[in-house]
Amino acid sequence: MTTDPPTMKAIVQRGYGAPERVLQLDQTTARPVPGDNDVLIRVRATSVNTPDSATVAGVPYVLRAQAGLRRPKQPIRGSDVAGMVEAVGQGVTDLQAGDEVFGSLWGSANSSKPGTFAQYTVVPASQLVKKPAGLSFEEAAASVMTGLTSLLAMRDVGHVGPGTRVLINGASGGVGTMAVQIAKSLGAEVTGVCSARNVELVRSLGADHVIDYATQDFTKNESRYDVILDNVLNHPPKAVARLLTPQGVFIPNSLGISGKLLGGLPRVARAALMGKGSTDVKFVTLAVNHENLNALVRLLESGEAKTIIERAYPLDDAAGAITRVLGHHASGKIAITV
Ligand SMILES: NC(=O)c1ccc[n+]([C@@H]2O[C@H](COP(=O)([O-])OP(=O)(O)OC[C@H]3O[C@@H](n4cnc5c(N)ncnc54)[C@H](OP(=O)(O)O)[C@@H]3O)[C@@H](O)[C@H]2O)c1
Repeated sequence: MTTDPPTMKAIVQRGYGAPERVLQLDQTTARPVPGDNDVLIRVRATSVNTPDSATVAGVPYVLRAQAGLRRPKQPIRGSDVAGMVEAVGQGVTDLQAGDEVFGSLWGSANSSKPGTFAQYTVVPASQLVKKPAGLSFEEAAASVMTGLTSLLAMRDVGHVGPGTRVLINGASGGVGTMAVQIAKSLGAEVTGVCSARNVELVRSLGADHVIDYATQDFTKNESRYDVILDNVLNHPPKAVARLLTPQGVFIPNSLGISGKLLGGLPRVARAALMGKGSTDVKFVTLAVNHENLNALVRLLESGEAKTIIERAYPLDDAAGAITRVLGHHASGKIAITV
């Protein structure tokens, strides 16, 4: 006798376009099955990152070449996760059923498997750590992609240390709110660029100077910076790089907020070309592993960084969560409670 595989609730994507049109709550999705080195997680929270929202919209169109031409080949979005271990594969020795964990399936072979906007997901054990008790599931999940990106940008790419002058364009978003705090924890003098609505938030995170982009174009400033993290790419890379000190490093970190066909790719390409010349241009490559996750845990547990969450949406309203991120103006992160 065969038994049907257990099912779960999941948000599935049926095409590209407006989130409320293309995302549906499905109650009959098969639960994923962990491989030998994987962990099956009962998801308690996840969060929306720009790859999720861009893939739902299907914009820039160029992303469809990889994700799927008419609809995404893999219908469940989401990579950040926090939840409870339900079961582990044979090769997993450091986690067991009942452990509270957080991490991400980003970059793993599991990236092409069902995502985290669901009741259950499967993540390699190498991309999970135990969740600190003092963090909510939402805070933990919403810290992963943006927290690790910020940590790697500031610590490993920018080599930020005491007195480093850092400018962060897009200081009020998911990456920016983390990057401001991490740069401060490393001893930097931080300038954040955001809208007037978020000036107080960015200041409260420790920024020494905050520029409201509506009233001041930071590329016209006379100040110079050792590290520029650009999460928006709304200015020509050359204009931004002009603000670097002689040894300064420019970190373009955005696929852009406009351009339906290619998004910010032309600007990313121009920045990369500048890097072949005299300007130091470096990109952040997200690496989800125990070492980086544990460094993030230390920042979160010590209070040097906290996850700023504008709002947590219920799973049933994942479309609302995605819509908010597509607007590019959430203050900090948008979480999803499962
Ligand atoms: N390298 C990696 O592995 C990696 C990982 C994660 C993310 N990223 C990239 O990082 C970028 C930022 O991600 P995020 O999660 O921080 O995005 P986000 O939360 O949507 O933040 C957007 C930021 O852009 C600002 N902004 C929006 N419109 C603007 C405008 N017209 N002019 C100037 N600033 C504007 C917002 O400020 P206000 O709201 O104050 O207007 C906010 O600070 C994305 O492009 C993403 O692709 C890269």
